[in-house]
Amino acid sequence: MSNEATGTGVIVLAAGKGTRMKSRLPKVLHPVCGVPMIGHVIAAAERLRPDRIAVVVGHGAEEVQAAVTSSRVTFVEQPELLGTADAVRRCQDALAGCRDIVVLNGDSPLVQPEMLQALTEARGEAPMAFGTHPAEDRGGFGRVDRDEQGRVRGIVERADGPGGTTERNAGQYGFDAAWLWEQLPKIELSDKGEYYLTVLPRFAYDAGSPAKAVTVAEEDVLGIDNRVVLAEAERIMRQRILERHMLDGVTIVDPATTYIDASVTIESDVTILPNSTLSGTTHVRTGSLVGPGTTVRNSRLGEECTVTQSVIEESTLSDRVHAGPYAHVRGQSTIAEDCHLGNYAEVNRSRIGRDVNMHHFSYVGDAEVGDGSNIAAGIITCNFDGEAKHKTVIGRNVLLGSDTMLVAPVTIGDNASTGAGSVVTKDVPAGGRVVGVPARAMATRRPPENPGGS
Ligand code: UD1
Ligand code: MG
Repeated sequence: MSNEATGTGVIVLAAGKGTRMKSRLPKVLHPVCGVPMIGHVIAAAERLRPDRIAVVVGHGAEEVQAAVTSSRVTFVEQPELLGTADAVRRCQDALAGCRDIVVLNGDSPLVQPEMLQALTEARGEAPMAFGTHPAEDRGGFGRVDRDEQGRVRGIVERADGPGGTTERNAGQYGFDAAWLWEQLPKIELSDKGEYYLTVLPRFAYDAGSPAKAVTVAEEDVLGIDNRVVLAEAERIMRQRILERHMLDGVTIVDPATTYIDASVTIESDVTILPNSTLSGTTHVRTGSLVGPGTTVRNSRLGEECTVTQSVIEESTLSDRVHAGPYAHVRGQSTIAEDCHLGNYAEVNRSRIGRDVNMHHFSYVGDAEVGDGSNIAAGIITCNFDGEAKHKTVIGRNVLLGSDTMLVAPVTIGDNASTGAGSVVTKDVPAGGRVVGVPARAMATRRPPENPGGS
């Protein structure tokens, strides 16, 4: 993104309570496809390449500020919720020098960047433009009022009672900055005790320069006021995300059962099978096959991995790792190239070297496993002694017999091996072989003293 100045300032209104969400979480922080709704609004605003973005905060201000990561954002406090015009007015200093001002409601995460561009362009000579969409009735929202020539005469708010058309105000505006700052102080308190931003189209009309209305698709302006609408926004956003990935070369076999957060990145020629969820900072490299029935959260999958009926969390799989069915990798684990993990294999807080096989019923926690080792059926690193977690180090090309218990802290040297059912409580040197409970070095058989007898 270039830093070229565009003379545009964006205001995101996010001070409201969101009472109808019935939540402790401020409304604008409710996630839509894994990202707080205000994050989507700011991302759309950033695509306009504005000089500055001012976010108006009030209710839950600290939480909202903590959740916004964009460095372009300046926060403006609105101490009392005195309405949308009061909120905008407080941004004047923060946006001094901007020629165009775009105002967006923070509770409308489906806003499209193209729409914001259109608002600025459509304004032309008019002092303001705003998005509208046709509705079936006059219920709720602000409604556009037009004169006989079809020019915008004003906006009728729901608190103002009936009137206007069925055309709704979307809550997305483009203003000439000088005009906006001049008009705001002239707005009077409504009967509801708020300063409405939506009085401005009437001012423009009265001055002989009516506002321009730009038609927006209804789903682009969905204002989230309760959790029913939240679920609707999630559905629309999810479909958009899936389509974006499909157009970028990802095969999604069943979009109806595939859930991908807005923050996930996927390279081309990845295939996602049904009932899969990819979330957070997940990145999937080319040629990988994810699913069916797989969850990948905050993890990286290398090239040509297959992850089947498995859960991968906060971890990294290198190229050609095959996980599943029923593998669970978590706790910042890293799995090097060409490993196979499956059939109830769990890896937690561990580093697994290349070409390690871990095929059946095993737990590797707080461990390092060297290249080429075999974790046979039923291996457990007993990492917790009731008080603390301890480390297990398994060298390269180690052959662990089925059902070996490795009682940590313990180190198994390169090329060592254990017998089936061993309980290993002491370190095993490189090349060593231990068996039994507790495991002991296997006695080297001495040749008979008197071959042939007497
Ligand atoms: C507003 C519009 C309405 C439009 C609708 C579209 C006004 C007066 N009405 O109504 O014409 O059809 O959006 O969704 O603007 N906010 C503040 N400070 C305040 C009050 C609100 O920051 O003092 C923020 C809210 O957090 C929210 C946005 O402004 O993000 C809109 O406020 P909300 O109360 O949701 O207005 P609506 O009733 O939806
Ligand atoms: Mg609203």
